[in-house]
Amino acid sequence: MAHALDRHLALVGFMGAGKSTLGAQAAERLGRRFVDLDRELERSLRQTIPQIFGARGEADFRELEAEAALEALANGSPAVVALGGGAVETEQIRRALREHAFTVHVEIDPATAWIRVGGGDRPLAQDEQSFHELHEQRSPLYDEVAQAVAHDVDGIVLAAAGIELEEGLLARLPELVDGDVEVVADATVLALHRPPLEAPVHALRGGEEAKSLGAVERLWRELRLGRDGTIVAFGGGCTTDMAGFAAATYLRGVPWVAVPTTLVGQVDAAIGGKTAINLPEGKNLVGAFHWPERTAIDPALLETLPPEEQRTSATPSRTRSRRPATTTAPATARRSPSACSRRCASRARTRLRSTRCCDRSPCASTAMPPGPHSRATRNPSTARRGSSCSRLPASRWPASNCLSSRYARPSTR
Ligand code: S3P
Repeated sequence: MAHALDRHLALVGFMGAGKSTLGAQAAERLGRRFVDLDRELERSLRQTIPQIFGARGEADFRELEAEAALEALANGSPAVVALGGGAVETEQIRRALREHAFTVHVEIDPATAWIRVGGGDRPLAQDEQSFHELHEQRSPLYDEVAQAVAHDVDGIVLAAAGIELEEGLLARLPELVDGDVEVVADATVLALHRPPLEAPVHALRGGEEAKSLGAVERLWRELRLGRDGTIVAFGGGCTTDMAGFAAATYLRGVPWVAVPTTLVGQVDAAIGGKTAINLPEGKNLVGAFHWPERTAIDPALLETLPPEEQRTSATPSRTRSRRPATTTAPATARRSPSACSRRCASRARTRLRSTRCCDRSPCASTAMPPGPHSRATRNPSTARRGSSCSRLPASRWPASNCLSSRYARPSTR
């Protein structure tokens, strides 16, 4: 599982990485309990960490640390759990992390860590050389247990939501998605980019036309995936809405990965598992909450948006136009990756906070909550402009518009 939706979010990393500070901030943003294991130990033993080390020695400290970690990780509602820098040395803790948590490595280079904590009260941060050696010795253990790496609170929230944001990420997609895969892609996007994976491709018409019952039925019938297979959605918000809905319903739900190619897709639609198709009576009237296993965001994909959409990207309050992506505009007009990351993290936080999932299973509930999706808003006189259920003319959505291309070969462009 590539997100922390229904499990603990554990933070590991070397001394001085900021696990306690960032963990508290992440917990606050996600509306979760924060468990700082060292502070818990200090509270229960009524001794500080240096006192525990001094009175009992490191070996005893590791046992106490393991007990506290196993207790915290095996129980309770999903929390944010910060572990001490050396906790990963204990095999039992590594196993508990694998079983019960989504683990993020809060990374820090040893020189910065030494500046922050060297010579302070941490028993293992007294001698600079052994501090560096310890860092080197533990690095492979952090890599082994962590499913994601982060350096700040936005990075932690993004990781918790299963979001990877990186310039050029598209090229790394084959590393992130394995097993049986089929790609559902916007035909316009396929004219501009090779399919991101060597897999069967189903092309959809661009825009809202993809979100019809006819199109989704066609897709259901074309898919050959088993329950363990993964749908990869490659396109804008309409593609991810429709492909995500197909994933939520096909075989009673299969995993999916969102690869959004538009700004609105990247900072909103592909985050948090809102999936839907339209009815002639209104937009998004049938759907499901089905959290993507991953959302892979490559800001470089926005380079093919037309210039006015690039400008929109740089102006957060405006929305994307419906024009298809056709030209290449200067990268300077694009929103910066850090702005994009803040926007995505904020959306991810909102959706993580508002999603309550069943215990251990992936979130595949097909229930729609009341509110904007309720009958009342289907009435055009009460539908608010711009709400997710605003009425659009029935003629906008042909009965079937999934272009048949089950085994369309990857384009060479
Ligand atoms: C330790 C790190 C400390 C604390 C103890 C041992 C370590 O926690 O658990 O001093 O072995 O690296 P922080 O990583 O929060 O400093």
